[in-house]
Amino acid sequence: MPSLSLSYQVIFALILGLHGWTLGTTVTNDSSVAAGKTFDYIIAGAGLSGLVVGNKLSGKGFSVLIIEAGPDASWNTEVFDAEGRKFGSETCSWKYPAYGDDGKPLSWKIDAGACIGGSTSINGMVWYRPTKAELDKLESLGNPGWNWDNLEPYMRMVERHIPSSPTQVAQGATSDLDVHGFSGYVNTSFPAPLRISRSVALYKEALPLVFPGLSIGGDLSNRPAVSSASTMYTIWYDPATGIQRRSSAADAYLWVPNQQRAKLTVLATHKVDRVLFDRDLTATGVAFLASNGTAVSPKRFRAYASKGVILAAGSLASAPILERSGVGKRSVLEPLGIKQLVDLPGVGANLNDQPGTATYALVSPYHQNDTLIVDEGGLFAPEISLVNMDELWPLTAASHMLDITSATALRSRAQRLVESGAAANIRGAEAVLNTTIDLITTHRLPIAEFLADGSGITLFAAFWPLMPLSRGHIHINTSNPLDYPIITPRLLEDPFDEAVAVAIARASRAVFDSAPFKGIVANPYHDPPIGANGTDAEYLAWYRKTAFGASHWVGATAMMPRHLGGVIDQDLRVYGTKRLHVVDAGILPFQLTAHTMSTLYAVAGRAADVIARCSF
Ligand SMILES: Cc1cc2nc3c(=O)[nH]c(=O)nc-3n(C[C@H](O)[C@H](O)[C@H](O)COP(=O)(O)OP(=O)(O)OC[C@H]3O[C@@H](n4cnc5c(N)ncnc54)[C@H](O)[C@@H]3O)c2cc1C
Ligand SMILES: *[C@@H]1O[C@H](CO)[C@@H](O)[C@H](O)[C@H]1NC(C)=O
Ligand SMILES: *[C@@H]1O[C@H](CO)[C@@H](O)[C@H](O)[C@H]1NC(C)=O
Ligand SMILES: *[C@@H]1O[C@H](CO)[C@@H](O)[C@H](O)[C@H]1NC(C)=O
Ligand SMILES: *[C@@H]1O[C@H](CO)[C@@H](O)[C@H](O)[C@H]1NC(C)=O
Ligand SMILES: *[C@@H]1O[C@H](CO)[C@@H](O)[C@H](O)[C@H]1NC(C)=O
Ligand SMILES: *[C@@H]1O[C@H](CO)[C@@H](O)[C@H](O)[C@H]1NC(C)=O
Ligand SMILES: *[C@@H]1O[C@H](CO)[C@@H](O)[C@H](O)[C@H]1NC(C)=O
Repeated sequence: MPSLSLSYQVIFALILGLHGWTLGTTVTNDSSVAAGKTFDYIIAGAGLSGLVVGNKLSGKGFSVLIIEAGPDASWNTEVFDAEGRKFGSETCSWKYPAYGDDGKPLSWKIDAGACIGGSTSINGMVWYRPTKAELDKLESLGNPGWNWDNLEPYMRMVERHIPSSPTQVAQGATSDLDVHGFSGYVNTSFPAPLRISRSVALYKEALPLVFPGLSIGGDLSNRPAVSSASTMYTIWYDPATGIQRRSSAADAYLWVPNQQRAKLTVLATHKVDRVLFDRDLTATGVAFLASNGTAVSPKRFRAYASKGVILAAGSLASAPILERSGVGKRSVLEPLGIKQLVDLPGVGANLNDQPGTATYALVSPYHQNDTLIVDEGGLFAPEISLVNMDELWPLTAASHMLDITSATALRSRAQRLVESGAAANIRGAEAVLNTTIDLITTHRLPIAEFLADGSGITLFAAFWPLMPLSRGHIHINTSNPLDYPIITPRLLEDPFDEAVAVAIARASRAVFDSAPFKGIVANPYHDPPIGANGTDAEYLAWYRKTAFGASHWVGATAMMPRHLGGVIDQDLRVYGTKRLHVVDAGILPFQLTAHTMSTLYAVAGRAADVIARCSF
């Protein structure tokens, strides 16, 4: 279908024609733009990371092909309208099945972006920064150069912050201008008007009563100073249409008229099957196929890369591509008839996400129609709080601290992970877990996130343990790239995560049962119907039954030294290979105390510079 690429080029050429005739980026479904052709770089996945890296490498003059499994869905209201997405929607989502340790499917499916823009086309758009302490831990795990000082400028570079109006400021939505960028392409702002402003004001009163010491106000990007604030999103208000629009990675790095690249080609609706290697394990290209194929052996195409192949298919897809390419654990590859080229047992291990759920309080009938209290939904979680161990456990923090800082406990945690296939080796598991434990105990970083909201006839809170110690794994089960991998999240497998989960769930009830909500809340224990007197065991059983991944999957292609179970080195090169890189959420070995986008945009920006340097 050459007509698509033609029409995009014509449109952008016309726009740019005013400034001189420049050819735009080619975006097409037509495999012939890539089949049998050679590029400097080939990237798997046009999501957050792939688009940033592709934009930057092509901007440096390299020819770049990005192969994206999904279609262009930028025309779809569920994608461009920040409030247009329906709960549980199948639009632009892989809906990956998930499994328990027993191999039985779990009751929930995993959302992950499946169109151009990747997960930034469907995500919750929440924007705030992580802290210096945790980004510096990337470096201390054995990745020189990956620290706050080097990443913060990239975080600043991607952002185009739109400061609050006086009305928004009056309703408690303020930003600290020092911790934002203003000349990037990803818009960040507060919605106009702000949602459920009366409830948000009540939350701001109630939260410190339940979490003593929680600092309210200001800007969550300025931590550790602020730990609860009105939520900022990657959105902008479009007066022409009267809607809040999403600012996805595609909006920011692909569609923007002044970011057109004659040397960038995006082939949509095609899936990367595997990486092609020559005899000394230099990556020379990829095999790919149409994503819609149903045939037993659909037609494979090949495209070649003279400088490198970059996997950016996301935490749940890059490890499977490596395994199909013969890079991974022998026990996974051999039964599938895949020849092992590199013995790399960390591939697919260490997968992790935060285990989320929610509780609901019934609003009294008198307030049920008050849109300052509850509304029809829209942008998720207008107030977000990040709670550390002293705030979550004012009386018992010290005993929880003893539990997780003991060397024997660390050893047995690591052993359990290795036994369950969730870690490559004990030393590596200890190093990763100890990183999180140090952030929790020494740095006193938050261990739970609390997202306050209200819609329909309930006020509700979603929450999750923020820095889990549990780990799962992801592996292929067939050599067919059109089959789903087997994802085993193993949420809430660690007793510390269980304790955080129970405590934050109980605290959510206490928020709705607190003085500020008297008269507004009719029943703080509406759903689940477990009272303040419910036992920990009851809360835990309910939590396990309702828990889902919070959509911040990381870890399955970790950047760490090889002897610790790492998959890529500090130049993002896959161990044992040449010219093969991974750049996506999967390279982060542990969870951060911020939603992933801000960090990942910075990581991808720096990655493009590192990879370009490697190629000379
Ligand atoms: C529902 C949801 C809500 C979220 N909410 C927030 C939030 O509010 N704030 C925040 O900061 N973060 C949020 N996130 C997380 C954030 O969006 C992701 O961490 C981030 O987009 C990951 O970037 P990535 O580059 O690793 O992968 P992605 O952006 O997911 O891109 C991967 C791309 O690779 C493609 N692909 C997969 N397999 C193949 C293949 N074999 N060949 C070719 N292409 C392939 C996919 O279709 C996809 O387009 C959310 C995520 C989800 C899913
Ligand atoms: C590209 O493929 C997608 C998915 O099959 C389809 O919706 C879209 O219309 C195609 N685009 C063109 C121009 O053919
Ligand atoms: C699958 O996609 C390819 C490339 O976009 C297209 O040519 C083909 O017609 C599609 N096949 C089906 C069965 O939809
Ligand atoms: C950012 O917002 C401005 C308006 O403030 C808009 O013109 C632009 O298109 C937006 N960019 C993106 C990438 O969303
Ligand atoms: C709220 O609005 C609905 C529909 O408009 C109406 O049926 C209901 O009686 C109202 N409830 C109260 C308490 O005013
Ligand atoms: C854990 O990390 C702390 C702080 O960096 C360090 O002092 C300690 O030795 C580490 N423990 C282990 C077992 O690695
Ligand atoms: C994995 O593959 C085996 C063998 O083909 C099959 O029996 C099993 O059902 C598959 N597991 C899942 C979860 O698909
Ligand atoms: C628990 O509290 C509820 C009210 O919240 C009460 O109805 C119930 O009887 C109590 N159960 C026990 C076992 O005390």
